[in-house]
Amino acid sequence: MRVLFLGEIVGRCGIGVIKNALKTYRRENGVDLVIANGEGATSGFGLGFQNALSLQHMGIDVLTMGEKSFFKLDMVEGISKRSSILRPANYPEDVPGRGVRYISVGERKVCIINTLGMCNFNNPHLNNPFLGTEALLNKIHTETNTVFYVFHASATAEKMAMGRMLQGKVSAVVGTHSKVMTADARILDGGTAYITDLGRCGASVSVGGFEPEHEIRKFRTSVQTRSHESWEKPQMQGLLVDVDDQSGKAIGVSPVRLDVAVEIPAPKNMEEK
Ligand SMILES: [Fe+2]
Repeated sequence: MRVLFLGEIVGRCGIGVIKNALKTYRRENGVDLVIANGEGATSGFGLGFQNALSLQHMGIDVLTMGEKSFFKLDMVEGISKRSSILRPANYPEDVPGRGVRYISVGERKVCIINTLGMCNFNNPHLNNPFLGTEALLNKIHTETNTVFYVFHASATAEKMAMGRMLQGKVSAVVGTHSKVMTADARILDGGTAYITDLGRCGASVSVGGFEPEHEIRKFRTSVQTRSHESWEKPQMQGLLVDVDDQSGKAIGVSPVRLDVAVEIPAPKNMEEK
């Protein structure tokens, strides 16, 4: 089985990257499953429900989220209608949506888990994602040995610790949120594919997908102004993972950093958070 994990899709440039590149890439590379983080797809801050549907129409099977899961209010209702959009599993039970999803890929049943890290997020309602994992995996392993863990976290140490805790227990641990692709893709002992951060789909030469001049001004003045999406050197970034169909172990990892031509529309300011 070949799985493509994509880094956070940022703004219209990111959506353009997916629209222009993904279906062809899927076909040419024999990709069976595409999992992407979508929480910045709508103007860089959240994921509107219609954008989510469009991205899935463009070839993404499962969208994961993070601390911005409900920045766009229509997702509060929308997420319950679409089980292929995951919010962090370590939110309280009453939060709409789900964070664990089983999906069929050909003859195989696989499980996808999305959780949110604790460092640098002001979220008092979050459960510790390092706790309860053993019980959850014991339950999942009665259904499938192919498990993909998408960890949306800020601190590299937190993501690395999660990778080491889950090595040999899941097929892959991939990090999102930082939007900067790390150069540490590998297969950990026990057959777990790992990367600290998948990077981003969108402007690769930018500040997290945004125009540098506005982000620099924020740091220089501490005045929060609108971010402006960047269109500089659009790329599709992520990790291609090959998984053995029988054992569920990762047998290959290949970073993806694909230049994509995206047409720049008429100027439009980013929506403020
Ligand atoms: Fe995030």
